Amino acid sequence: MEKKSKQTFFVTTPIYYVNDVPHIGHAYTTIIADALARHNRLAGREVFFLTGTDEHGQKIEKAAAERGITPIELADSVVTRTQNLWQALDISQDFFVRTTMPFHEKGVQEIFRRMLAKGDIYKGEYKGWYCVSDEAFLPDDAPIGKDGAKICPDCGRAAVVLAEPTYFFRLSAYQQKLLDHFEAHPDFVRPPSRMNEVASFVRGGLRDISITRTTVKWGVPVPDDPAHTIYVWFDALHNYITALGWDWNRERFEKFWPASLHLMGKDILRFHAVYWPAFLMASGFALPDCIFGHGWWLKDEAKMSKSLGNVLDPYLIINTLGPDPLRYFLLREIPIGLDGNFSHEGFIHRVNSDLANDFGNLVHRTLNMVQQYFGGTIGEPAAEEAQDAALRAAFESARTAVLAHYEDYAPAKALEELWAFIGLANKYLADNAPWKLAKDPALRGRLARVLWQAAAAIRGSSHLAAPVMPGSARRIWDLLGETRSPLDVLYADFRFDDLDPARPMKPPVPLFPRIDLKEFLAGPAAVPPAAERPAEPKKPPKETTMDIITYEEFKKLDLRVGLVLKAERVEGATRLLKLQIDLGGEQRQIVAGVAETYAPEDLVGKRFTVIANLKPAVIRGVESQGMLLAGIRDGKAFIPFFEGDIPAGSKVQ
Ligand code: MSP
Repeated sequence: MEKKSKQTFFVTTPIYYVNDVPHIGHAYTTIIADALARHNRLAGREVFFLTGTDEHGQKIEKAAAERGITPIELADSVVTRTQNLWQALDISQDFFVRTTMPFHEKGVQEIFRRMLAKGDIYKGEYKGWYCVSDEAFLPDDAPIGKDGAKICPDCGRAAVVLAEPTYFFRLSAYQQKLLDHFEAHPDFVRPPSRMNEVASFVRGGLRDISITRTTVKWGVPVPDDPAHTIYVWFDALHNYITALGWDWNRERFEKFWPASLHLMGKDILRFHAVYWPAFLMASGFALPDCIFGHGWWLKDEAKMSKSLGNVLDPYLIINTLGPDPLRYFLLREIPIGLDGNFSHEGFIHRVNSDLANDFGNLVHRTLNMVQQYFGGTIGEPAAEEAQDAALRAAFESARTAVLAHYEDYAPAKALEELWAFIGLANKYLADNAPWKLAKDPALRGRLARVLWQAAAAIRGSSHLAAPVMPGSARRIWDLLGETRSPLDVLYADFRFDDLDPARPMKPPVPLFPRIDLKEFLAGPAAVPPAAERPAEPKKPPKETTMDIITYEEFKKLDLRVGLVLKAERVEGATRLLKLQIDLGGEQRQIVAGVAETYAPEDLVGKRFTVIANLKPAVIRGVESQGMLLAGIRDGKAFIPFFEGDIPAGSKVQ
């Protein structure tokens, strides 16, 4: 395949609409792209990973009007939330493009101008059934609804008739060229089933498409004819070249174009596999290597989408567990071409079995024994025996397979292969029973060998898991006494043996706690990141965007100074602390999601604001009788403390 010989890797996600904040479905595409970007960096390629937001068009205009704000105000707020979410999910994009950025608008206009001059764009009149929600004219064979209006086959909504002067793109001229390209590059569209669909769509005949609107004000104006704005898809698709620097960072553009991989859900494959290459051919740009249409995450058997009201908020999981279990689950559970049904039960089952049991236990047991038997430093392992060599050989062959699957854009297979090796490493420990070896001082060298071998297997496994679980891989290497990050060691520089047995290892910390379904659903986080939650549209429209409360309503909050008497971790929850609080003669227990920013001992003796009359809740099996106030950034809590000796229980107002 072409990409293998290339030393650069340019991967993109779709740019997401800003009519609402992203949900798990959007997170899915972005996580796949991130894992593949990280894999390619480790493979030694120079990577450019692009994501961003699609901010023009009628959909955004409408959503902003419903909230009583301007489109750019809506876009700004959703962009902040999107970027926060990507940060919370450990996404490593190199650039975040917004279609309202001046270089993009200018670039789109310039491309439009050139196509017009060349004759690939011409002016005419369009009349047809148009779906406002999807911003697309319907195909001729769209069904007719009860009231005579055609129904959009994608979203099921009634379409409206639109007649307007418009500029057309001469798509019909590219039918044969597209088919020739598909023929010559069978991997151009993946998976193969989608290639067949796209090819048969093109074979069915292509008509010129309208690429401007007079009814939409919120868009890029047509150069020299500003009554028209450029259709949002023509505008949006060109982000892949404008953001790369086509007319403002030529060096970067030359280095990375054509894209190695455009990733997206199957819902928008046709735009990318038919329109986009035709636009590129018209402008004389090379075509991307691969357009990959992945499957959908369904909830209750329907595509997760805002309009169906069945979306899942990723923070529900990230707040309690951090990003890696979600990243792992989404990539491991289904091959990226297929659909998957998301259930919390399925998620918890997979995370408990693969992460808590298989991998977490292997790390925990090994590090525990290194502490118990060697005080943290393994020292001098005895010579390698046959079964040690077999484990190393199994690692090398698993590694070859894992890397080949990542190269083939098949992270589920890569993880499956890696976990088969982790199973072998667990078996190796069980077979060699270090706890028995520890009983005989004469076998100390052998004991050291077995634990070193297990630690080396963990180190190697973490390196291979790093594209998918970067944070956990970093933590595990740190526990193993590695000073480098696994994300800084190229595959080519990795050696199984590079784990120095003379370097001290750290005692284990809970990496992947087991999750209990009931507790998980009862209390995802003690400090919900309100700032990250989607702002629900206010009804009726044109109201202010925040609910205004009266002073009387505010007075209902019993805010008081709490003094921390005791603080401890909540077992099995990396983010939670259990605090005993003095509220002025009354003692309360509060569970707070602050363990990422504060150790228990940091908080004892500290004073902060507590909501004392909040309904008690059970969080991870522990009762919480109030809530503390904290600022939230990237899912982490920062508590404003009182200076001085203000008495516990004092009113805060
Ligand atoms: N703005 C266009 C894309 C323009 S790209 C030049 C758009 N935006 S979107 O916000 O609707 O995002 C669509 C993408 O989000 C899908 O193609 C897919 O990548 C992702 N997903 C949205 N819902 C999803 C699921 N339920 N499951 C999997 N992916 C999902 O279309």
